[in-house]
Amino acid sequence: MARAAIAALLCLLCAVCVVDRVEAAATLSQGESLTGNRVLVSANGEFQAGFFTPNGGDPGKVYFGVTYAKSTEVIMPWVGNRDAPVSAASAYSATVTGSGELQVMEGQRVVWRTGTDAPSPRDNHTLTIGDDGNLRVTGSDSADTDAVWESFDHPADTFMPGMRIALDQRNGAFNRTLFTSWRSAGDPAPGNFTLGLDPSAQLYIWQSQGGKNSTYWRSGQWAGNNFVGIPWRTLYIYGFKLTGDPRQSGGYMFYDFAPFNASLFRFVLQPNGTETCYMLLATGSWETVWSQPTNPCQEYNRCGANAQCTAGDDGQAVCSCLKGFDPKSEPEYSSGNWTRGCVRSTPLTCSERNTTATAAAAAGDDTFAELQGVKLPDFAVWGSTVGDATACRQACLANCSCGAYSYGTTSCLLWGQELVDIYHFPTGEGYSLYVKVPPSVLETSSDERGRWTTVIVVVVVVVVVVLAACGLLMWKCRRRIKEKFGIGGRKKPEVLLLRPVREGKQDFSGPKQAEQQEESDESKNCELPLFAFELLAAATDGFSDKNKLGEGGFGHVYKGRLPGGGEEIAVKRLSRTSGQGLEEFKNEVILIAKLQHRNLVRLLGCCIQGEEKILVYEYLPNKSLDAFLFDPARRGLLDWKTRFHIIEGIARGLLYLHRDSRLRVVHRDLKASNILLDDDMNPKISDFGMARIFGGDQNQVNTNRVVGTLGYMSPEYAMEGLFSVRSDVYSFGILILEIITGQKNSSFHHMEGSINIVGYVS
Ligand SMILES: *[C@@H]1O[C@H](CO)[C@@H](O)[C@H](O)[C@H]1NC(C)=O
Ligand SMILES: *[C@@H]1O[C@H](CO)[C@@H](O)[C@H](O)[C@H]1NC(C)=O
Ligand SMILES: *[C@@H]1O[C@H](CO)[C@@H](O)[C@H](O)[C@H]1NC(C)=O
Ligand SMILES: *[C@@H]1O[C@H](CO)[C@@H](O)[C@H](O)[C@H]1NC(C)=O
Ligand SMILES: *[C@@H]1O[C@H](CO)[C@@H](O)[C@H](O)[C@H]1NC(C)=O
Ligand SMILES: *[C@@H]1O[C@H](CO)[C@@H](O)[C@H](O)[C@H]1NC(C)=O
Ligand SMILES: *[C@@H]1O[C@H](CO)[C@@H](O)[C@H](O)[C@H]1NC(C)=O
Ligand SMILES: *[C@@H]1O[C@H](CO)[C@@H](O)[C@H](O)[C@H]1NC(C)=O
Ligand SMILES: *[C@@H]1O[C@H](CO)[C@@H](O)[C@H](O)[C@H]1NC(C)=O
Repeated sequence: MARAAIAALLCLLCAVCVVDRVEAAATLSQGESLTGNRVLVSANGEFQAGFFTPNGGDPGKVYFGVTYAKSTEVIMPWVGNRDAPVSAASAYSATVTGSGELQVMEGQRVVWRTGTDAPSPRDNHTLTIGDDGNLRVTGSDSADTDAVWESFDHPADTFMPGMRIALDQRNGAFNRTLFTSWRSAGDPAPGNFTLGLDPSAQLYIWQSQGGKNSTYWRSGQWAGNNFVGIPWRTLYIYGFKLTGDPRQSGGYMFYDFAPFNASLFRFVLQPNGTETCYMLLATGSWETVWSQPTNPCQEYNRCGANAQCTAGDDGQAVCSCLKGFDPKSEPEYSSGNWTRGCVRSTPLTCSERNTTATAAAAAGDDTFAELQGVKLPDFAVWGSTVGDATACRQACLANCSCGAYSYGTTSCLLWGQELVDIYHFPTGEGYSLYVKVPPSVLETSSDERGRWTTVIVVVVVVVVVVLAACGLLMWKCRRRIKEKFGIGGRKKPEVLLLRPVREGKQDFSGPKQAEQQEESDESKNCELPLFAFELLAAATDGFSDKNKLGEGGFGHVYKGRLPGGGEEIAVKRLSRTSGQGLEEFKNEVILIAKLQHRNLVRLLGCCIQGEEKILVYEYLPNKSLDAFLFDPARRGLLDWKTRFHIIEGIARGLLYLHRDSRLRVVHRDLKASNILLDDDMNPKISDFGMARIFGGDQNQVNTNRVVGTLGYMSPEYAMEGLFSVRSDVYSFGILILEIITGQKNSSFHHMEGSINIVGYVS
């Protein structure tokens, strides 16, 4: 009873404290002190600096740090005196000294200091809180860019947009940004977990326990615009960047959140080692956007070497040896102690030979077993960035110490014989790992074959039954649709549209919330309808082959007509097997929903149902430009006026993408087959699966994952992965040459003298 009363009183006091805060300017000058409940407020009103008791903390302890002004709870992304709190009852203050040092005082005693000494001690120093929540001490005569000290260089447990996670290993020593968890939810004192960038260009969380420091989690290799272990594209669209090369001199990664306020997101290393991204809602509360590790398989090396971890239905880790490997200790492994991992059941033929013999002989008869959809193992050796999958495979075969390779992230990755920390994703994400095995492993024995026959028979029977059931359902559904709209009626099938995407799947929640706050004027455009799968199946006669318009890398495109004599549509059904499908899909939906221009193909809606991912576009009867340009019979239809009209239209579309739309978009795969033509031969740019959004003032990005079509890629993009709006302009140039000459860019392989269209023209 008494306890409840005290708690109520404390609550009241706290509330009073919050209301009672006196706002100072954004700047504290040298000699002034920030006392008690005075706070510095950033110019945009999003951040405050001052003395606070964090949410859930001991009300008797007060910390100097930064908070979110719009948050209902006291959340402190940065704390200065982490393990030296001042007593709430004392007279505490913060000052900037003549030497440019920020000090926290309890009475006359200094309890915490930044430990910085300015070069010119008599300089007038000021403390400022920036719009990004960065606390900076600057001198009056030093340029604004060189702060004497800034909190972004000395983070606590929170990564804030605009921060850099740096790794510098020049001078032979590591100098890096480390985040340290709090000891517990209300106690900012340094805890047991640390996060930082590793020289292998991966993020790591280390755990210190009993004086030992072990790896708790790793992000997976950097794959150009995301990490292999975090296949969540929506975050990256807006800008994680890895700059420099942490594997050599150094580099840093940062999160550029150009379209949104920095106060919207924070990434916290929790006291229990979980990294969580939160988003600030308009209500002042925080929503969890993303979190890892969330199942035991995402923890480091859960299954030991040469094994893969699959999360079971109950969230528990299920370990299994890779193909060609057996548990090192069967009794231990079957009892659930996986620490010793697995070893090869049959040695490689490569290692049986004299390794100093020629590479070809050394390769032996070894081959590779493919392991799909995994977070690639740790300790990769980065091979060549040029060459292809075959060259990568050869590189691994030629080296007896190579145990596996993977191609498709950023370069050819090679591993030694120990494959550590392999997580098998539950849903088609991740990359393929090719594990070197002796040929005997891939030959199935005869009794195994007998088992397979049984399995196949069972599967066939099940599939037939399921298909029959589906057919029945679809037939019923179509009948219902016909009944609803009447045959030949002109009524639009609005009844069948589900709720709009913006209220739907949490997959889109990252950008969604932010947009709702920022661009209510655009919200009408983004009100993208979700189509029911049954409706699209009915519209395309069950995705029948006779309605197929074409097929791309990610699936088939069908022509359809909305039931009841509605609009003609083009339906792009993504194949279920394409591992990258979901990412590309989200990318495309988010992008196109925001882009509206007469020279861009119009997205009418989409459909996400189970494993089905479908995009619905306006139907353009004249198909794509290449169908005219490279067809001797139809080429004649393109007179010079039309060709000029097409070039102009593409230029307008491109200008909109690059300059006039609110987002700056680089298409990355501009080519003749991605230009569609409507009835009046107006060109429309399509296929945004490869596109990237650029931040406002950013002009160039380095990606290691080069996508696009050879021949249309600018040399600096194809060879160095540098892409910018100029890469599209290069592709556009190639396109113009094709439109003028009527020659296919790729047709020059066989011609004497010129390698490509550029050589041919010049
Ligand atoms: C960003 O901050 C500005 C004030 O600087 C505010 O007007 C705007 O609504 C904020 N936007 C979001 C998305 O919170
Ligand atoms: C410091 O600021 C005071 C007041 O603005 C000014 O009078 C003084 O000249 C400044 N000193 C230096 C070294 O800039
Ligand atoms: C380490 O990096 C920080 C931030 O980039 C820099 O201020 C500091 O001088 C560096 N320290 C050393 C020893 O290089
Ligand atoms: C940190 O590790 C120590 C043992 O080294 C342990 O006693 C303590 O409970 C751990 N702290 C947390 C927050 O897990
Ligand atoms: C923990 O150990 C790893 C590997 O030895 C090392 O790179 C890292 O810096 C250590 N972390 C800390 C906080 O000491
Ligand atoms: C770690 O803490 C967070 C936040 O309190 C919680 O959501 C998560 O479930 C915890 N994770 C584990 C493995 O206990
Ligand atoms: C698992 O096996 C390792 C190595 O044999 C051993 O050191 C460890 O104590 C075992 N752990 C458990 C929980 O039995
Ligand atoms: C491997 O071959 C070289 C010459 O080809 C020979 O000198 C060497 O002794 C051989 N090593 C083994 C282990 O057989
Ligand atoms: C062979 O592979 C191992 C492990 O990947 C690597 O350390 C070694 O440098 C490679 N040797 C050659 C000659 O490439």
